Amino acid sequence: MAQVKTVSILGSTGSVGRSTVDLILSDPGRFAVQALTCRSNTSLLAEQAIKLKARLAVTADPAAYGELKNRLAGTGIEVAAGPQAVIEAAALPADWIMAAIVGMAGLEPVLAAIAQGTCVAIANKEPLVAAGPFVMAAARKAGTTLLPVDSEHNAVFQVFDSKRPEGIEKIILTASGGPFLKYDEAALAHVTPAQALAHPNWVMGAKISVDSATMMNKALEIIEAHYLFGLPAGKIEVLIHPQSLVHALVVYRDGSVLAQMGAPDMRTPIAQTLAWPGRMETTGPRLDFTKNMNLIFYPVDIKQFKSVPMAYECLAEGLWAGIAFNAANEIAVQAFLQNELPFTGIVPAVREAVEQMAKAGSREKLQNTRDVINFDGLVRERTSYNISRDKIRTTGTHS
Ligand SMILES: NC(=O)c1ccc[n+]([C@@H]2O[C@H](COP(=O)([O-])OP(=O)(O)OC[C@H]3O[C@@H](n4cnc5c(N)ncnc54)[C@H](OP(=O)(O)O)[C@@H]3O)[C@@H](O)[C@H]2O)c1
Repeated sequence: MAQVKTVSILGSTGSVGRSTVDLILSDPGRFAVQALTCRSNTSLLAEQAIKLKARLAVTADPAAYGELKNRLAGTGIEVAAGPQAVIEAAALPADWIMAAIVGMAGLEPVLAAIAQGTCVAIANKEPLVAAGPFVMAAARKAGTTLLPVDSEHNAVFQVFDSKRPEGIEKIILTASGGPFLKYDEAALAHVTPAQALAHPNWVMGAKISVDSATMMNKALEIIEAHYLFGLPAGKIEVLIHPQSLVHALVVYRDGSVLAQMGAPDMRTPIAQTLAWPGRMETTGPRLDFTKNMNLIFYPVDIKQFKSVPMAYECLAEGLWAGIAFNAANEIAVQAFLQNELPFTGIVPAVREAVEQMAKAGSREKLQNTRDVINFDGLVRERTSYNISRDKIRTTGTHS
């Protein structure tokens, strides 16, 4: 009989969080749930906490405390609220913690989870992009194993010979190209949030869906891979693969190429990390190689997807540029989702903010995560200002 694994899920009400909950429910008796967290979706959080018999349920929104408390009255499940309570939930001892909060809001919870010295499954890519050296150093210091959840990074993790990295020539991350792969500039100008949220292959949260449409997701993943696998930018490539069946390839010095494949279903990489170093059964779709599977790969059109070359520029610039790139994108995506910025304005807004921060950024002494958070705040202010300025110029109205 396998030992019971204690687990927590940060961001359990999101897309990755919900898939993680499903996997845990699919294997009764194998997992004991410590903490579940959300931002404000207390009805789903309470439902999950009851089903999973969690010890603690936390909402990041202090105003939602009373509601969550009422929903869980009489269950014996502890309740807490506020950003600090999310960090404390992440610090609760567990054998395995899923980091699935979206954006930089996940940085401090991720660091608290890592400090325990067990296993952290990391879906939340933004803290790695903006604070990679600190996140990786914290994991080394605590002896924590970081298990990549992003399907491409999980694929690399599965076929990457980490004991002999000198044998690796390069890694290739695949990209579906998102819903607008075939759109020209004129068509892109009229894209709505609803269209951007409809990804052809994957069902995901709002931010990552928009990031996939701009290919900013792949750009962030290049920086994420740089930190996770300790590879220079020149050894990280991207290829368009619209079918999303091959998630990544590792090319070895002798010409051997090891790839990882699977149906586009996040349950597969999540299950790989949940059962690691073993495997667990999932009931998701399986690839059928008898069905005339013609795999298509081709290079990214960097004139169409300007976010991808920008990721390499940011890596060449250093830490400040990754922080600016990520923070400006979070603000621009939010503005697009609120109809404050056109779809075609997202990547230019990120470029403008990174360029504006260049002088300040290159002088910035980013010595710890507090410095990262402060610089991230400056970029957010600047990007929000730029977006409102442009809106006033084009419509004459202030938001
Ligand atoms: N979705 C995917 O297939 C996928 C694949 C690979 C990587 N990822 C990465 O995984 C992360 C999560 O993505 P997702 O698509 O699952 O996002 P999502 O569906 O938007 O879910 C985000 C989760 O984070 C919580 N949250 C949001 N803001 C928060 C805050 N300020 N403080 C605390 N909790 C907060 C949300 O709570 P509420 O529900 O209450 O808002 C929700 O539980 C992202 O970094 C993404 O890039 C996702």
